[in-house]
Amino acid sequence: FEVTWDIDAAEKEGYEHFTLKEIYEQPKGVKDTVTRRIDASGDLKLEGLQITKEDLAAINRIYIVACGTAYHAGLVGRRAIEKFAGIPVECDVASEFRYRDPFIDAHTLFIAVSQSGETLDTLQSIREAKRKGARVLSIVNVVGSSVSRESDDVFYTWAGPEIGVASTKAYTTQLTAFYLIALYFAKLNGYTTDSYRHEILKELLKMPTMIQSVLDKTEDIQKLAAAQFNNEKVFFMGRGVDCDLAFEGSLKLKEISYINSFAIAAGELKHGTIALIEEGTFVIAVATQDRLYDKMLSNIKEVKARGAHVFAIAQEGNTEIQKTADEVFYIPKTMDELAAITAIIPLQLFAYYVSLARGNDVDKPRNLAKSVTVE
Ligand code: G6P
Repeated sequence: FEVTWDIDAAEKEGYEHFTLKEIYEQPKGVKDTVTRRIDASGDLKLEGLQITKEDLAAINRIYIVACGTAYHAGLVGRRAIEKFAGIPVECDVASEFRYRDPFIDAHTLFIAVSQSGETLDTLQSIREAKRKGARVLSIVNVVGSSVSRESDDVFYTWAGPEIGVASTKAYTTQLTAFYLIALYFAKLNGYTTDSYRHEILKELLKMPTMIQSVLDKTEDIQKLAAAQFNNEKVFFMGRGVDCDLAFEGSLKLKEISYINSFAIAAGELKHGTIALIEEGTFVIAVATQDRLYDKMLSNIKEVKARGAHVFAIAQEGNTEIQKTADEVFYIPKTMDELAAITAIIPLQLFAYYVSLARGNDVDKPRNLAKSVTVE
């Protein structure tokens, strides 16, 4: 199968920027990525993946390697594969991976993630992994790109063309890809039960609607951005998958707003970062995970006690957080495993509206390129 698209013909369709248009295209991107992979019986069918039960049984280690936002999707993917399929996974940025002499053999599966499929470091990492005997599976958006051509197995994300330099819809489709691949591995190796797999798949099918309901609350984020766009620094924190989201939310913000932002694992606060919290410091706390909710509440209290202004993201129903955080944005109630898909949306919108308020070129931020094909 083949798909071609004409970049020049891609219009903003009434949106002020491609970035905003692409944020709004996420229900469709996720829907297209999922529905093509579910057969009439409601089970998984992954076109482009030739990995059999026997192939998977021979794999004892997985490396996920990528750059930028694709790397952040890999962090979430690592959790999904370990949890659903029980295979040890390491995740690394390509520029580090290719120079660190990683242990790779014929029992290694190498997963490359790339929107463009042309990022040089990712491509070189693939070549290094193949040279040492690994099988290469890639998660790619651009059909026929270099990464897809050099891989043994390809999973295409169906995000459509992404023009804005800050990656948004590619990320949520990459997360979706990882959930599907992890579930597919689980189906092959039986690490988790069929009923658990079906439950997650069913929930995954609801994600486009859930993303839409988050987008319907864009105005709340617009107001937040109007109040916070002048900050000189912003901290993001989270635990578990929320830590991965904190990294991505922070990257979005620095890319297009140029605010000095960074993210930490909330449990690491006491080991350094708390020294930077002072009166009025703006902190974004991602707290979607039931299992880690109480721990996050304590972390929020810790920064509040030092004068921070806290904006939190939580699942509907977890209202306790309102007592500590200054503002709370609720994502629709879902399984903890899948909350990342909706919880990233308010962070993308926040970066967009802050960038806009600061008068930046949102679609083409300074010093950045959509695809980095040099070292
Ligand atoms: C550049 C882009 C990022 C992107 C990264 C990886 O830095 O500005 O948005 O995440 O490259 O790109 P890829 O096409 O490999 O996903």
